[in-house]
Amino acid sequence: MGFLLQERSWLRVIEELQITTSLAIRIQGAERVAAWSSTLSKPATIKATSAAEFVPPRHELAILGKAVQDCRGCELYRGATQAVFGERLGDGKGSSRAAIMMIGEQPGDKEDLAGHPFVGPAGKLLAQCLSEAEIDPKQVYITNAVKHFKWEPRGKIRLHKKPSVTEMRACKPWLEAEMDAVKPKLIVCLGATAAQSLLGAQFRVSQSRGKLQQFGDLPPVIATVHPASILRARTEDDRHKQTADFIADLRYSKEFLRTI
Ligand code: URA
Ligand code: SF4
Repeated sequence: MGFLLQERSWLRVIEELQITTSLAIRIQGAERVAAWSSTLSKPATIKATSAAEFVPPRHELAILGKAVQDCRGCELYRGATQAVFGERLGDGKGSSRAAIMMIGEQPGDKEDLAGHPFVGPAGKLLAQCLSEAEIDPKQVYITNAVKHFKWEPRGKIRLHKKPSVTEMRACKPWLEAEMDAVKPKLIVCLGATAAQSLLGAQFRVSQSRGKLQQFGDLPPVIATVHPASILRARTEDDRHKQTADFIADLRYSKEFLRTI
């Protein structure tokens, strides 16, 4: 008798487990969790804190660029129109490899709507400076440390908000997958967010800008300012000086590539 009861209670446990699992799968299906995700066996209530489980194993740009739209690795997807993945500048054609990988912070308002990185004012300034430094845009793959636009409402506009360290960390697997696909010879970090995402929170662009950094297994890295910070300069003189310094860092990057 005792044995029978025990057997029945085990059957119940198994039954309940099956119900929970199928419920979890249904909830997650509604959340469009990708098929390769290992989360299918986890309860839906556990929130992801990293993009890792959403990054497909094949690091091809076309595959990654599609998959990132389903990323739920942090909360930022909720307020954004779409994820903005990296792409090659120029006509975007040709091999996925590029000599230089440039990393910004996150898409802005214009990028969020267009679905392409650096299409707003900062991108226009960057294009002019690349041209001044005689860097062929086709040599450049451009992306961001964080793939979804973080903002807060300010009247009618969506005001850019800096991503947190947790969000930067959560999004890093996408950056790593891009590095693997693009195999750049040099990485140029535009601003502190990108530099700290790659080189650690202690890194100071103000102290180490324009200097070659060697860090772990990474390709050589040069950190410089973000073109958006040049656009915020208070005076015309400041803007000229900051633009010239930025172009000098880009020229140095180009020279470095010539030597390797
Ligand atoms: N600023 C960034 O850091 N990235 C963009 O894509 C646009 C502006
Ligand atoms: Fe995923 Fe990055 Fe978007 Fe967060 S910001 S949801 S980690 S792609």
